[in-house]
Amino acid sequence: MKRVITIDGPSGAGKSTVAKELAKRLGFEYLDTGALYRAVALYLRKKGHDESITDDKLGSELKEVEISFEKARVFLNGEDVSDAIRTPEIGHYSSVFSARPVVREFLLGLQREFATTHDTVAEGRDMGTVVFPGADCKFFLDASTEERARRRFLQLKAMGKEITEQDALKDVVERDRRDSSRDIAPLKKADDAIYVDTTKLSLRETIDLLYHHITSRCGIKGSDR
Ligand code: DC
Repeated sequence: MKRVITIDGPSGAGKSTVAKELAKRLGFEYLDTGALYRAVALYLRKKGHDESITDDKLGSELKEVEISFEKARVFLNGEDVSDAIRTPEIGHYSSVFSARPVVREFLLGLQREFATTHDTVAEGRDMGTVVFPGADCKFFLDASTEERARRRFLQLKAMGKEITEQDALKDVVERDRRDSSRDIAPLKKADDAIYVDTTKLSLRETIDLLYHHITSRCGIKGSDR
C-alpha cells in the first residue's frame, strides 16, 4: 500500500474539490469513490432496476460491471460516463444502492487495489473507517446542512441541471439520513480523523488548512513526480 490520505464527510462538504486540489499539490492521485457508486447506479438504472432488486440479481448484474479511471474520467464498461453520473437521479440511486452489502463488497477491492499502485487522496464516506483504516492522514469534512444544500444547488446549476434550492435541501437531508443510518459502513468520523467544519471557510482556506495538517501533523511531504 502506498501513502493514503482519506477525506470523508457528507455530501456538499467540499470533499471533491478539496481532495482534487490536495492531490495536485502533493503529486498524489485522486480517488473519487462516490463516482464508483454512481457508475454502479447508472448501470443498474440503465438495466431498469430500483431498490426492489434482489441480492442474487444484484450480484449477477455486478459481474457485468467494469469501472476504471483514466485522467480523472470515469469509464463504465469502456464508456466515458463522467458526465452521465452527475445527475440528481443517479445521486439518489447511488445512495440507495450503496446501502447494499454486495455493492460495497464489490467496490472494496477496487478501491484498495488503486492505492497499491498510487499515492492516493481518497474521498468518500467510509475511507477512514472501512476502506483504509491504516491511512497516513484522515480528515472528516463537515458543514451546516443549509450551507451544503446551497453549495449543491450552485454546483448543479453551474452544470446546467434543473433544480431549486428547496430540492437541493431536501436531497441533502435525505442523503444524510440514508448514508448515516445504513447498517454497513455508515458515514461516520473515524476516531483518529481530524474534524474540519468548512461552513465559514472558503475552498482556499480549507485546502490550506488540510495541507498544513498533512505536512505538519501527518509528516507527509508529497511525491517527486
Ligand atoms: O460523494 P457522492 O455524492 O458522489 O456519492 C454518491 C453516493 O455514494 C453517496 O450518497 C453515498 C455513496 N457513497 C458511499 O456510500 N461510500 C463512499 N465511499 C462514497 C459514496
